[in-house]
Amino acid sequence: MADAVECSLSGYPEREMVESSTQVQITSKDALNRQFKWYKASLEGVKEPTRTLLERYSKIPDDQMVKHVMGVAPYPCIGSFRFLEITIYNSAAYPEILARLKSGDKYLDLACALGQDIRHLIFKGAIPSNLYGSDLRPEFFNLGYDLFFDRSTLKATFIASDIFDDTSALLRQLAGKLDIINAASFFHLFDWDSQVSVAKQVVKLLRPVSGSLLVGRHSGNVRPGKRDGSELRGPIYRHDTVSFRRLWEQVGRETGTEWEADITEEKWEDLQTHADSDEGAFKMQYVIRRV
Ligand SMILES: C[S@@+](CC[C@H](N)C(=O)[O-])C[C@H]1O[C@@H](n2cnc3c(N)ncnc32)[C@H](O)[C@@H]1O
Repeated sequence: MADAVECSLSGYPEREMVESSTQVQITSKDALNRQFKWYKASLEGVKEPTRTLLERYSKIPDDQMVKHVMGVAPYPCIGSFRFLEITIYNSAAYPEILARLKSGDKYLDLACALGQDIRHLIFKGAIPSNLYGSDLRPEFFNLGYDLFFDRSTLKATFIASDIFDDTSALLRQLAGKLDIINAASFFHLFDWDSQVSVAKQVVKLLRPVSGSLLVGRHSGNVRPGKRDGSELRGPIYRHDTVSFRRLWEQVGRETGTEWEADITEEKWEDLQTHADSDEGAFKMQYVIRRV
């Protein structure tokens, strides 16, 4: 690739406990990302509950935290530090999820990227070996190990897979075995039909019993509909609470299953840092439960 620059992310230079270094390709597309309003060139601070997680789980002193994060992931394809947000922490189902994960339920973070929610759940008492993360891009798993200093200690399992691939390792290993799936900032990457396909894979992955749970948050919009030519990708569909409920009704009809959808609308704090957003955008939180 002529215009690609090899970027060596050597963890945290002044710490002897660095466990690995991760090679990441910075491409011309990454450079392009710098022009968008959501790209942040630097990090001002780490907010709770991630601050406590990095301090007590990863043993990174408070005054060295920003330097550490910038050392692991300073490149623009993760340009707004979204990987420092524990997405599940703000879910209405968080207390239930934590209780279920302490007593043996199996959990998948679908499209987990660096896997920050998995570390948070372990820190809060979830049984690590029952936690799985999956993403299209396995290099994110390596960055997660670098960020949290847990390559040799983490007992959760990461599986690189394309969610649309029926023959994937994810489907082969976990179909019908999971109790809870978290899919944060994922459905909104796709158009309506692809979102239906993702939802059907979720149905296959979850145990076919009442109480199986999908939770997540993503960008919603008060003006639901298809958007063409977005900043970073092909056509996408932005939902309001009504259209996302309708999508799950369609999935229920087409899979012979029934789902109860609890979908809420929240204000995004720093809307300008979100890709493909406008003044109608809001943060959608959802809890989709099999009846
Ligand atoms: C916006 S990030 C969200 C990351 C994480 N869930 C979070 O909220 O911090 C979207 C993630 O989806 C992954 N992804 C995109 N297409 C995918 C696919 N077809 N199958 C699995 N993961 C995919 C990307 O690699 C990326 O890590």
